[in-house]
Amino acid sequence: MPRTFVPASFEDYRELARRRLPRQFFEYIDGGAQGELTLRANAADLDAIRLRQLVLRDVEQVDLRTTVLGREWPVPFGLAPVGLAGLMRRRGETQAVRAANAAGVTWCLSTVGLCSIEEVAGVASAPFWFQLYMMRDRGFVAELIARAKAARCEALVVTVDLAVPGLRLRDTRNGMVGGLSAAAKLAVNLERASRVAWIADVVLRGGPLIFGTLAAKLPEARSLPEFHEFVGRNFDPTVSWADIDWIRSQWDGPIVIKGVMDPEDARAAASAGAQAVVVSNHGGRQLDGAPSTIVALPAIVDAAGDRLDVLVDGGIRGGLDVMKALACGARAALMGRAWVFALAAMGEAGVARVLESTRNELRVSLALAGIDAVRKVGRDTLY
Ligand SMILES: Cc1cc2nc3c(=O)[nH]c(=O)nc-3n(C[C@H](O)[C@H](O)[C@H](O)COP(=O)(O)O)c2cc1C
Repeated sequence: MPRTFVPASFEDYRELARRRLPRQFFEYIDGGAQGELTLRANAADLDAIRLRQLVLRDVEQVDLRTTVLGREWPVPFGLAPVGLAGLMRRRGETQAVRAANAAGVTWCLSTVGLCSIEEVAGVASAPFWFQLYMMRDRGFVAELIARAKAARCEALVVTVDLAVPGLRLRDTRNGMVGGLSAAAKLAVNLERASRVAWIADVVLRGGPLIFGTLAAKLPEARSLPEFHEFVGRNFDPTVSWADIDWIRSQWDGPIVIKGVMDPEDARAAASAGAQAVVVSNHGGRQLDGAPSTIVALPAIVDAAGDRLDVLVDGGIRGGLDVMKALACGARAALMGRAWVFALAAMGEAGVARVLESTRNELRVSLALAGIDAVRKVGRDTLY
């Protein structure tokens, strides 16, 4: 691939990110759990879907709007929370939220972002979502929720598929988790030092490389393996549906439960007072062997009825995938790796480009299927 090409697809941004990032970080984004079966299934099952091509309908205007949590979205997609995104570009979360705001797209900050809730709020021109991991120290969780409230976050996204961290073998090989021999550590550091553009941007000009929102709790983590140990010690595997009630007592805005993969859990989420669920297997990073999200989605949509907005993520690479997700019943789709690779490749401009190309691809795909509004996409859109 020539060095001067214009990135136009997910694979192009992925390739640019691969060239720019230290290998450790590229693999951290790219990888999944264990044999990566679920990671591959997410994309492969979307690819396998075929759409009806209907012709001779007036598609000059295509209405892309939808409604999520009672608010109109200009497009039926948003950006999923991704931890450590700020390591990929200088103050990466602030660049991403700016691009999302400019496009009117909803963006979600991870608990484990490099930029804190307050830093993101300082640059955001529209409310963002905050993703919460439950930690054993409920006092600290209550503080996080209060900070999200003070930052006027629009929704609390409670991620429930990380009862324990998944086994990500690429992270083990690359020293993101666990220990490294002295020789391996040297190799990692030398390889990282060779990524000059990344070092200049993120390390030299990027400000403190700490977990912004967790800084008070995590002053001791100096390295990524230490961070991983922190997650293992502090994230709470005892969390149950009763804790959602506790969260509800702390937060009066909308609650989105992220990581639901079964109709039974969707019904429980509705009963627990959530307004939305994200059908998600964490991008294939947790239970390897879980189904793809697109296969799990229709039964969850049926179980949710009109009690929940059902969103989906996993393998969404562009507008065509968004359309397929809507055809399988989702209200909207979220993208994870797509925006993070674009951020790594080109910063804020990269995220802006991906949002625009996703919007355009969705518009073209709908038009070519003879559909003039997102709200008309449904299961009869499937071939
Ligand atoms: C590098 C990486 C980090 C992630 N970190 C988080 C996180 O901190 N919190 C969370 O709820 N989900 C996290 N996710 C999962 C995403 O929110 C989303 O579910 C997933 O990326 C969707 O799949 P996709 O990457 O194929 O679009 C992460 C995903 C990736 C790839």
